Amino acid sequence: MRYEVDFLVIGSGIAGLSFALKVAPYGKVCILSKGEASEGSTKYAQGGIAAVMYDTDSFDKHIADTLVAGDGICDREVVEMTIREAPQRIQELVKYGVNFDKESGGRFDLHREGGHSEFRILHHKDNTGAEIERGLLQAIHDHPNIELKENQFAIDIITQHHMGQRVTKHTPNIDCYGVYALDCRTNQIDTYLAKVTLLATGGMGNVYTTTTTPIISTGDGVAMVHRARGVLKDLEFMQFHPTSLYNPAEKPAFLITEAMRGAGAILKDRQGKEFMQKYDKRLSLAPRDIVARAIDNELKLAGVDYLWLDARGIGKNELINGFPTIYAKCLELGINITKDMIPVRPAAHYQCGGIKVDRNGRSSILHLYAAGECSCTGLHGGNRLASNSLLEAVVYAHNAAMDAIDQFAKNNQSDLYNKIPDWNAEGMVFNEEMVLITQTKKELQEIMSNYVGIVRSDLRLQRAFDRLNLIFRETEELYNRSVLTEPLSELRNLIACAYLIIKQAMARRQNVGLHYSIDLI
Ligand code: FAD
Ligand code: SIN
Repeated sequence: MRYEVDFLVIGSGIAGLSFALKVAPYGKVCILSKGEASEGSTKYAQGGIAAVMYDTDSFDKHIADTLVAGDGICDREVVEMTIREAPQRIQELVKYGVNFDKESGGRFDLHREGGHSEFRILHHKDNTGAEIERGLLQAIHDHPNIELKENQFAIDIITQHHMGQRVTKHTPNIDCYGVYALDCRTNQIDTYLAKVTLLATGGMGNVYTTTTTPIISTGDGVAMVHRARGVLKDLEFMQFHPTSLYNPAEKPAFLITEAMRGAGAILKDRQGKEFMQKYDKRLSLAPRDIVARAIDNELKLAGVDYLWLDARGIGKNELINGFPTIYAKCLELGINITKDMIPVRPAAHYQCGGIKVDRNGRSSILHLYAAGECSCTGLHGGNRLASNSLLEAVVYAHNAAMDAIDQFAKNNQSDLYNKIPDWNAEGMVFNEEMVLITQTKKELQEIMSNYVGIVRSDLRLQRAFDRLNLIFRETEELYNRSVLTEPLSELRNLIACAYLIIKQAMARRQNVGLHYSIDLI
């Protein structure tokens, strides 16, 4: 099937939905989501969204905290813009119907997380993301100009390459005309043509074995732009969250929010002793890269798989009422967090880099925008400050929407639509052996976890690169002869993302932010 729309949005998390709501008054919008609409990192966000809402705090402090966490390589102008626009974007979320917790006097109840010098995290109990996703989806369903299609897997963005032109990364004016997408219910590959396309495909945590991100986080948007020869940036900065619940059989790993440390929970070694004083004077509330590295070191020194988070000092009522999701989850596993310490370990959590965009969310490819976790705006630099990503997603969804509304009206590329062929699957055979995909995915995740994790070295990176080469060649051969499926396409995307992480890590010859190599100390 062929579809033509004004605005095509790939992804139904906070970034995609916010953009869709803003452009919908101006044209026909189609949102594609590869799974259920609500499934994405947004739904799992616990801590909340950072913003300066009252004059007990200040923009300058939030800006300074973001720059410090980013380890000196944030884009300062982007940081200032994002933080100053935050209150307006929060008010819009509230207008769409999102609820944030309030104090009895009507002011927002604000939490604090690692790296923040003030209490400034708006939240909805410990399930903020689920509340944001609920509110935005409701607004989307109420809008007559928006069609949201689930189980539609975007495979590749359509460029001049698909009309027979050779496209390299030096080709000027690479242009995006839409995407090819697999309808996962019919197994047909459809052609979606659009004047403007937004990638809002989320993160790539599944490059690693242990991740807090959902199974949909396979770096599809980044891989698509890589194949289309667009510009990508800062992929070596993979953020590991210090405290995922240690429960090896569970995927994704369940998060224990940093807000719990903000409320007083303390990291302890297996003997029950505090250890963060050895690493940073901000103790358990130091920025995430420092805490994750400290835990990684303690785990290696003791030769164990987990450490403790002690939340018992917080108080029973605050724990049960303030962190109901975590309380219930732990209780299910026989851990009563009001009495027992919580076993935790770091897990891949957030990709700071991605598709390079300007302040209007424009990528290097014409008519292609990106927002949310798949993008790289310059806000996070070497390390994202906690709860700045939901904020970045709404700010950039807004900026991209304003720019796209202006651009789409001038776009007359529809004259070329008849030159764009449909997907050609001639001669492809069904791949009967899922093991070729599942085993390769496990190998990839092991390589990345062991060699390209929290602490790296030149030798580990080189090993990872060599091992990945073999996996890449085998998977390309499989792809070139197989009928396309979602698992095969995701594997290919994960391999592309792993390759980009390693290449960019090898190129960075200085320890900064989340990139830490023992050879660069
Ligand atoms: P997502 O919400 O991940 O949505 C991605 C969408 O893209 C999905 O709809 C998916 O179906 C779709 N998609 C992907 N690939 C394709 C494809 N090929 N075809 C079609 N559709 C596709 N950040 C904060 O600021 N505060 C927090 O408290 C916080 N807590 C977090 C807790 C957890 C457990 C995790 C994992 C992350 C947390 N983060 C937090 C990070 C934050 O949640 C994410 O960065 C943010 O939600 C990403 O939003 P997004 O819209 O970019 O992507
Ligand atoms: C958390 O709640 O600890 C996650 C916050 C974030 O990733 O920004």
